[in-house]
Amino acid sequence: MKTNIQDCNFSSLGEELGAIDTDNLLIVVDSRVWQIYAKELVENHPKDKKIYLYKTLEGEATKNVAEFEKGLEFFLEKGIHRDSYLVAIGGGATSDFAGFLASSLLRGLKWSVVPTTLLSMVDASIGGKTGINSKHGKNLIGAFHLPENVWIIEDFINSLPKEELDSGLGEIIKYGFLDKEISKTLTSKCSLSEVIEACARKKEEIVQSDFKENGARISLNLGHTFGHALEKIYDLPHGVAVFWGMALIFKLYDGESFLKTLRSFETSLGADFGAPPWLNKTFPVKKIMEYVTKDKKRKSNEELQLVLVEEVGQFKAVSFKISDIKEKLEQSKDDLRSFNF
Ligand SMILES: NC(=O)c1ccc[n+]([C@@H]2O[C@H](COP(=O)([O-])OP(=O)(O)OC[C@H]3O[C@@H](n4cnc5c(N)ncnc54)[C@H](O)[C@@H]3O)[C@@H](O)[C@H]2O)c1
Repeated sequence: MKTNIQDCNFSSLGEELGAIDTDNLLIVVDSRVWQIYAKELVENHPKDKKIYLYKTLEGEATKNVAEFEKGLEFFLEKGIHRDSYLVAIGGGATSDFAGFLASSLLRGLKWSVVPTTLLSMVDASIGGKTGINSKHGKNLIGAFHLPENVWIIEDFINSLPKEELDSGLGEIIKYGFLDKEISKTLTSKCSLSEVIEACARKKEEIVQSDFKENGARISLNLGHTFGHALEKIYDLPHGVAVFWGMALIFKLYDGESFLKTLRSFETSLGADFGAPPWLNKTFPVKKIMEYVTKDKKRKSNEELQLVLVEEVGQFKAVSFKISDIKEKLEQSKDDLRSFNF
């Protein structure tokens, strides 16, 4: 199955929702998004369907077992049927949560996404990974459940806080290393619309070739192993942490020539992530290793795969012993303290 990715505006979204073959629409919307966009969404909702509206907590706060149970019971109490159709409206947290609801209610309902953050437009809404967090870690409970449509309304970007915008830009920069055409797009000062479309299509193409992440899909993890650690340690927006995670990978694993490219993508996108968060501080090897060891993409107790870039558009996933990664960080920690580029 393939997800249809389509540019929309509020009124054409209304037409798309109207055309869904169901008489029950289950709308799961981020409460912050609802606060800002209720008028546009209500004006354009289809009048010939029963609509059940469920407002989630803002962002990540909704991705837990207690909120999930609330969501399930809310819809079950309405007496929904198997041809009910779910639509998620929000960022990646909302689509993860709502997609998991769709996968679980009555053993699986069809669903679609309206992403409202830049990160979700280029990444989280596409690919069918859905889920919630456990007290043992992020995204540990979930299912693969592909949405039928991703309807992108770029107007949502206008109300994004700067850190959410930066987060999306960091993930976009990652695509610049995974695809030569996107790399050219990024450096030729194309519009943000063109960039969003190119990245969303790239993600869809990767997912099509490797739905369950046994091959090419691992490339999307570029910068993420160290990035997740940096995100927590320095409290950074996710995509910005991925940017610094890529910098560390390039510095430590023979990719220094890509550091200039990293900054050039940042400049072309009009982003400014400043200096590395570790600059002039003790490099936090121990803390980084705590997170690296917990990496949920790990498939063995001793080893994990890092995604390395060979040249722009070409990557390889290489298995490393966790002890070797630690040793490399220990050996480089003095150098890293002053590592800027
Ligand atoms: N399933 C996947 O493939 C995948 C991929 C990447 C990330 N994710 C998940 O996505 C989540 C992060 O998603 P995100 O970065 O989109 O952020 P988010 O969904 O957590 O939203 C971030 C904040 O922005 C607010 N917001 C959303 N849209 C807005 C708008 N248009 N205007 C103003 N505020 C708005 C939300 O209320 C929230 O406070 C994480 O939980 C991550 O695990 C999933």
